[in-house]
Amino acid sequence: MARVALVTGGSRGIGEAISKALKAEGYEVAATYAGNDEKAKAFTEATGIKTYKWNVGDYAESKAGIEQVEADLGPIDIVVANAGITRDAPFHKMTPEQWNEVIDTNLTGVFNTIHPVWPGMRERGFGRIVVISSINGQKGQFAQVNYAATKAGDLGIIKSLAQEGASKGITANAVCPGYIATEMVMAVPEKVREKIIAQIPAGRLGEPEEIARCVAFLASDDAGFINGSTISANGGQFFV
Ligand code: CAA
Repeated sequence: MARVALVTGGSRGIGEAISKALKAEGYEVAATYAGNDEKAKAFTEATGIKTYKWNVGDYAESKAGIEQVEADLGPIDIVVANAGITRDAPFHKMTPEQWNEVIDTNLTGVFNTIHPVWPGMRERGFGRIVVISSINGQKGQFAQVNYAATKAGDLGIIKSLAQEGASKGITANAVCPGYIATEMVMAVPEKVREKIIAQIPAGRLGEPEEIARCVAFLASDDAGFINGSTISANGGQFFV
């Protein structure tokens, strides 16, 4: 039977490319989304990948949604915690709401996505966790105290889970994308974006598929000895 993969935020941006890449690898894929019904419907029509709507920042919603996915497709073997938002502002202008929204979605959302599937993975002796962090969790970013905190937090999560899951056949790894050509990056003011691109040695934004291929590898049997690691895919912009 095909393994089942869950991709949060899987109908748009980097998540869309990940969902498609995992389907192409032969997995049964479920993609979650938070609000854009129209896009999710079009995505399912185009790809045949089922979509589920829930707020990853809410534990009860996540747990119920995951139970529904497992009822429909079977036990989840692969989790890609990809859903993320930005609420950029220089720190002196950042509001507690901007802080909390980003923490809830990007950090607590990762907990809420992994925690309900973890016991099943332990019982079955297999699991693949891939968290989509960011270059800005590695290096920090002007106007992203909230976002950078969550993306750095993701790296703490996978390093700890790697140690807890290894004896149960579960790996936990992260991908740190640099600036990728998605709506999120296109929302950055054009002048600012041009300056950012000038800092990327590759001279261009990354493509979502370039991140998806990293995820497909980490989800594969071939990656079984890779645990607690981070793949940086950023065109040479930052080295750890
Ligand atoms: N470094 C240093 N200074 C910077 C700066 C930077 N990167 N960016 C802006 N500034 C400075 C400006 O020059 C300006 O300085 P002055 O006041 O002296 O002129 C000041 O900061 C900006 O002040 P504003 O009042 O104009 O700022 P604002 O409240 O309008 O905020 C902004 C603007 C939100 C910072 C906007 O510039 C922005 O969106 N920047 C991009 C932030 C960014 O890179 N976000 C990443 C999004 S993509 C992503 O997150 C995906 C991923 O994982 C990579």
